[in-house]
Amino acid sequence: MQVERRQYVAELFRNRFGSEPQLWARAPGRVDLMGSHTDYNLGYVLTLPISRDTWMAVRKSGTRTVQLHAANLNEDDSFSLDAIEKTSSRKWSNYIRGVASVLQAEGLQTDGFDAVIHSTVPLEAGLSSSAALECVTAVVFRELGGWTMAAKTMATLCQRAENVFVGVNCGILDQYSSCLGEAECALLLDCRDLSTRTVRIADGISVVICNTVSPRQLSGSEYALRRADCERGAAILGVGSLREVPIEVLAARRSELPEQVAKRCEFIVAESARAASLASALEAGNRELVALLCAESFEGARDLYEITSPSMLAMNRAMQQAPGVIGSRQAGAGFGGCMVAFVDAQSTDDFRTNVVETYLKSTGLRPEVYPVGAATGATIFEP
Ligand code: GLA
Repeated sequence: MQVERRQYVAELFRNRFGSEPQLWARAPGRVDLMGSHTDYNLGYVLTLPISRDTWMAVRKSGTRTVQLHAANLNEDDSFSLDAIEKTSSRKWSNYIRGVASVLQAEGLQTDGFDAVIHSTVPLEAGLSSSAALECVTAVVFRELGGWTMAAKTMATLCQRAENVFVGVNCGILDQYSSCLGEAECALLLDCRDLSTRTVRIADGISVVICNTVSPRQLSGSEYALRRADCERGAAILGVGSLREVPIEVLAARRSELPEQVAKRCEFIVAESARAASLASALEAGNRELVALLCAESFEGARDLYEITSPSMLAMNRAMQQAPGVIGSRQAGAGFGGCMVAFVDAQSTDDFRTNVVETYLKSTGLRPEVYPVGAATGATIFEP
């Protein structure tokens, strides 16, 4: 697989730019195992940088221009490093432009290059294809510029590129996961101080992505509304973020909050606590607890945070009745896209066949279902 992918990308590079690439970089997507929307509330999230990634095959051009070919979309773009502007015709290019612009604002050297981009992270499916693109770009500029940077700083700068340049007010989860992954491990991330604990999932439990293949409608506008509800809740409760609100305090002061805000806050405070609990449950291989936490998370996403969609409800039903399922829940921002299941490792093939059949029957859509492993963070590599 890796050899074929390398040959494919190298050939595209030769066709496009007339030579071999000099440098290869990669950055993974991620799936959140627990902790929907907790990151911008400075809570906990359990994240898995996944074995699906974005590659860049690169050659330094010696100019001030970045020339790009996006293999998955068969699109080209180029821009000058001396006048970086947003483009509306190649949205994906803004992630690269944004990173270049933020690195320049930090006073870091940015050099022109030619690159072919190829990703196995499904695009716009809630697995952070955009963060993978940002982080692989940062690694390329770092390598070409000959400077160094801690992975955490890089994650923060890539988040800034998305917040300020692209204009999406996301939290730190995606970029952090893509920059700081460790082989074999999930990460329990504390979004308040950006510390992590590595979490080794017990043998016998597989993580399986179930892509509803339904577009994530509303995710942009509704994301901002959820964030605003949480900020309103924090303001009424007199704290800087919901992280500072213990469950008992929220219960005691619930009546001070408008009903919708109260529901959002209830979900976030419980979801953040569940992230830490799931980390321990997965390490211990406590399948009953994994099942319970996932069920609570999904119900909260549906009834309190209201980020599910009809396709997600159909997918959750399909996952729940499939052989080998341990637990299942939403992933990413919600509103369609991918979901995640914990499955008995012996049963992943049966699980997959069964989920595809059931979901296809109930929705008419053929889902993508595949197990994923843990991946290391963004790096230069030799494929
Ligand atoms: C998107 C955002 C993240 C995070 C998740 C929800 O992926 O980019 O920052 O808020 O949604 O957990």
